[in-house]
Amino acid sequence: MNAIKVGLGAILMISVGLFVAKINEGDATEVVMHKSANCECCSEWGAHMKDNGFTVVEKTHDNMSEIKRTLGMPEKLASCHTGVIGGYLIEGHVPAADVQRLLKERPDIIGLTAPGMPMNSPGMQKKGQEPKGYDVLALNHDGTTSVYAHY
Ligand code: CU
Ligand code: CU
Repeated sequence: MNAIKVGLGAILMISVGLFVAKINEGDATEVVMHKSANCECCSEWGAHMKDNGFTVVEKTHDNMSEIKRTLGMPEKLASCHTGVIGGYLIEGHVPAADVQRLLKERPDIIGLTAPGMPMNSPGMQKKGQEPKGYDVLALNHDGTTSVYAHY
């Protein structure tokens, strides 16, 4: 009788564990992308993220600089779109691989940014090409940045 109870308890705990793991995993695959209506490279970046297993929810605005200010992305580090995933900001044409690394390592930072519009970046370049010639920066809570990935 006791063995059955222990067995059932273990099964219940495992199911709850799997369920919670599933929810966490689900949270961290959805990017909410804030963009202005007529930005095409934003949607191209969204397609790059989808190709890499993310779900992308597009939200269009006509006041992106205000949105960035509200979210906490400094103007001097700004690009076109601002993505939000797993509690982090992803500004501009950051490769999906960097977002995957971020979500795995979960450093205590605001997020990642690829300021401006780097020409050879996912969403700006042809599909299947390697990102090249720019840095992805980590934005720290004190407003400083450090190089997160160099291409
Ligand atoms: Cu862009
Ligand atoms: Cu964009």
